[in-house]
Amino acid sequence: MNPLNHVAIIMDGNGRWGLKHQKSRNAGHKAGLKTVEKIIKESIKKNIKYLTLYAFSTENWKRPEKEKKFLFNLLENFLVNRIEDLHKQNIKLNIVGIKNFSKKLNLLLNFSEKKTFKNTKLQINLALNYGSKSELLYAFKKLNKKKEKINEKNFIKYLQTKDVPDPEILIRTGNTKRLSNFLLWQIAYTEIFFEKKLWPDFNENDYKRIIKDFMNIKRNFGNI
Ligand code: IPE
Ligand code: IPE
Ligand code: MG
Repeated sequence: MNPLNHVAIIMDGNGRWGLKHQKSRNAGHKAGLKTVEKIIKESIKKNIKYLTLYAFSTENWKRPEKEKKFLFNLLENFLVNRIEDLHKQNIKLNIVGIKNFSKKLNLLLNFSEKKTFKNTKLQINLALNYGSKSELLYAFKKLNKKKEKINEKNFIKYLQTKDVPDPEILIRTGNTKRLSNFLLWQIAYTEIFFEKKLWPDFNENDYKRIIKDFMNIKRNFGNI
């Protein structure tokens, strides 16, 4: 059995799902939120300590205003309606990425982080306006400015995932095999699972199957 503390997910395929089922990409984003709830629940059952969800990339700003507005509204509503319950479940919400959204959403994100800060059951790292390249550049610049010795220990202090162990599993749904600027440093030794299903169709059984497959992998880390 491999130890499992951290699962990271690129939740891809919402737009295609929405177009296929309801002729609107945004309907897919709404449906995708239900999958998020299922995966949070199952993560707790499996005693996973960190769940990192890629929700909005630094490149996603290129999308039409209407879609971005819908996504941020969805997130706002989710936080307003669900943060109390997440808190009761001892879940900690941590934002990775730069919070430069509307004043309202920024406040809500800060409030949610603060409220759940001491929780210990599961830490959800929500990657929002996150891009791995800019995260890495920021860390390089910091090291340079502080004239600290360049080594792994000093470097990772300046990553947005500081204090979070690297993920053992990375899942990307949506039938696409790429990383889209996600956790490029942190996944150096991560087991990667590319899933055909679109995110709204992904469910706890798919998740359980991946975890089971992961348990049977011989992880070498360069050794034999
Ligand atoms: C991922 O689903 C969710 C976000 C990027 C917010 P997409 O919206 O990329 O869905 P597809 O890939 O276009 O189907
Ligand atoms: C990656 O999905 C980002 C998120 C899931 C938030 P994208 O749909 O944005 O990725 P690309 O653009 O197809 O690579
Ligand atoms: Mg996509």
